[in-house]
Amino acid sequence: MPKKATSPKKATSPKKATSRAAARPRRTSQTTRPRGSVPREKLPRSAPPVRFESQKHIEGVRAALKRADYIRGVAASTKAHPRPLAAEVQDTHPLIRMFFYGLAISEDDARPALEPLALEDWAGGNLIALKGGRAVPLVRIEPYSGLLVATDIEWSSPQKAAPDAVMGLTGSSLWLANLTIRRQSRLTLDLGTGGGIQAMLASSHSERVIAVDANARALDFARFNAQLNGISNIEFIEGEWFEPVEGVKFDLIVSNPPFVISPDFQILCRDNPMDGDDLIQSLVRAMPGYLNDGGYGQIFGDWAQLTGELWAGHPAKWVAQTGCDAWVLRGKVKDAADYAKYYIGDLDAAEFKKANRKWLAYLERHRIERVIDGMITMRRSSGRSNWFRADEFPRRLRSGVGTAIERGFGHRDFLERTDDKSLLDEHVRPSPHLRVEARLEPNAAGWDLKRAQLILTEGMSYSARIDGALARAVLNCGRKRCVRDLLNDVASTRGQSAKDLAPGFLASVRQLIANGMLWPVSLDESDQAVGD
Ligand SMILES: C[S@@+](CC[C@H](N)C(=O)[O-])C[C@H]1O[C@@H](n2cnc3c(N)ncnc32)[C@H](O)[C@@H]1O
Repeated sequence: MPKKATSPKKATSPKKATSRAAARPRRTSQTTRPRGSVPREKLPRSAPPVRFESQKHIEGVRAALKRADYIRGVAASTKAHPRPLAAEVQDTHPLIRMFFYGLAISEDDARPALEPLALEDWAGGNLIALKGGRAVPLVRIEPYSGLLVATDIEWSSPQKAAPDAVMGLTGSSLWLANLTIRRQSRLTLDLGTGGGIQAMLASSHSERVIAVDANARALDFARFNAQLNGISNIEFIEGEWFEPVEGVKFDLIVSNPPFVISPDFQILCRDNPMDGDDLIQSLVRAMPGYLNDGGYGQIFGDWAQLTGELWAGHPAKWVAQTGCDAWVLRGKVKDAADYAKYYIGDLDAAEFKKANRKWLAYLERHRIERVIDGMITMRRSSGRSNWFRADEFPRRLRSGVGTAIERGFGHRDFLERTDDKSLLDEHVRPSPHLRVEARLEPNAAGWDLKRAQLILTEGMSYSARIDGALARAVLNCGRKRCVRDLLNDVASTRGQSAKDLAPGFLASVRQLIANGMLWPVSLDESDQAVGD
């Protein structure tokens, strides 16, 4: 989630000149260029972006960061001191002090730390400025998943940041990174690449990546980052959303667009230039046209829940008739007042009141009751009827959520093509990541399994409480006993007829398959069944 604005100024948004009707995406090639986007030529260019012409210089930066053990040093420092005091920061390596904590240090301290390049080389590449005997950092370098990502230090506050400031790693960057389906892709598109984090992560499982951004400054950072990380299979293109890739099809498209639903437009990387959630709508509607059959499109952002609508109402409408199956996963829900407060941030009382009035009037005018943040994953599956699924994220997400999402698509396909009668003949097995906490009580014959808590320990960490009979079915499932056998076991335990029990039992089995706790054996690629 992009950080809060600290003070909304008077709107200078291009959407002021754009009527609401005109902002609505149309089903033409215009769909790829959301109306109200910032004309690139009008973007004021702020400080010069990071820029190195020669490989020797890039290698020099890499060598200095490596010698500083930068990635491990940052991890150790942030782990030991999540909110470090000045003295704790002073104890870190000079490069960490400069490029992670944003502090200027004396040229004398900086010189040996920046070797093998000279101070002037770093200044020439716009990574530092030399002022009054001090080396002042101009970029922040954040480690993520073994990568180093340089971006602007200040990008979220309209008072301090230029409109073309390049965003650092935020909650939304990390959510999308964790939720991306990381199977092999021939061609991947990162829309709104910023400093290039999603493109760089995708480069390891893609033959080629195209990274698009309307902000030339962002592309300078992204290019530098790719070089710094030794990545050479990304093509960076300046342009408006899908415009530069017209006619190209992708196996994977990822996007973390500027999605804040706000009356103001001040910073390109954060503020959504269109009315309400029209930007994310236009991207979702356009995405299927750029996907290969079987290809996935994933977009993280905020969408509106209008008065009288369901929380997934907007995405459900957007993906209908697109030839895609879609799974919407809901994160946080904020009512309009909380949403406004969150993004207005800390202002003095009078300023806050004024801003709050403006935000609330805007949200009310658009009938926005709540704002939902979450992930929309689409898979192009043409030539058949498509399914739509909407779920909340589990309370806890672990690593590898993208793998769980991909598996979820497979499970939903299975459930769609398998009616209850056929399901009885199927075999299911427990996910290898399933853990069962059981409650046993003594009875005359020994122990009675009363109930159990099921918990997934990887990816989407769903949990479920089930009764003892169903728990026994989960424990006994596998290749040897089909779903019908499990149903008969439960019926005999409960002293009920299997026929009466079947609808409820099969609904529970379907739910456990949908949330990834039970895996259909027929989907296994290998003959190894963990549940046996
Ligand atoms: C929220 S940032 C995401 C940065 C990065 N992908 C990440 O996940 O951290 C959104 C990016 O969209 C870019 N952007 C804004 N308007 C755009 C447009 N009309 N076409 C292409 N990119 C745009 C911004 O410049 C910014 O880099």
